[in-house]
Amino acid sequence: MPSKLLFVCLGNICRSPSAENIMNLLVRENGLEGEIVCDSAGTGSWHVGSPPNPPMAAAAFKKLGIQLEGAARQFQPSDFEAFDLILAMDHENYANILCLAPQGKYDHKVKLMCDYCRKYPDRDVPDPYYGGAEGFDYVIDLLMDSCGGLLEELKA
Ligand code: 4NP
Repeated sequence: MPSKLLFVCLGNICRSPSAENIMNLLVRENGLEGEIVCDSAGTGSWHVGSPPNPPMAAAAFKKLGIQLEGAARQFQPSDFEAFDLILAMDHENYANILCLAPQGKYDHKVKLMCDYCRKYPDRDVPDPYYGGAEGFDYVIDLLMDSCGGLLEELKA
């Protein structure tokens, strides 16, 4: 049974597409294509249809050699049924996702991305959108740590 993972941030142009593409990289490296399937979405609708943010994509390419692929879409309530695990980039995204779930029915599927960090103490993946290049680099490092932890948990 494949694990269907949905990574969620605010705009779906920085953090969650990075998480999706980094997880896909680790999935390929581990020969798990088809067993773990990744997608991403934003709680907001401002950037629907947009490709990943260029400074975010530049950081992913510089640090990992990967091209960030995808087009932004908004999280929708049907995602609760469509995915096995929904990974919120920060506590605000987490709260906004749970607001859309009727009577706590899907609470067990929604986790914080930083719950899977092994090295970094952060509890949120910080929003890099209005900051400088070092913020985008940090998002990549943090997501490499947490995606690695998530993959270990899924394999166990
Ligand atoms: P993301 O970053 O949630 O990681 O995609 C943001 C993208 C856009 C905005 C905020 C955060 N915005 O305010 O438009």
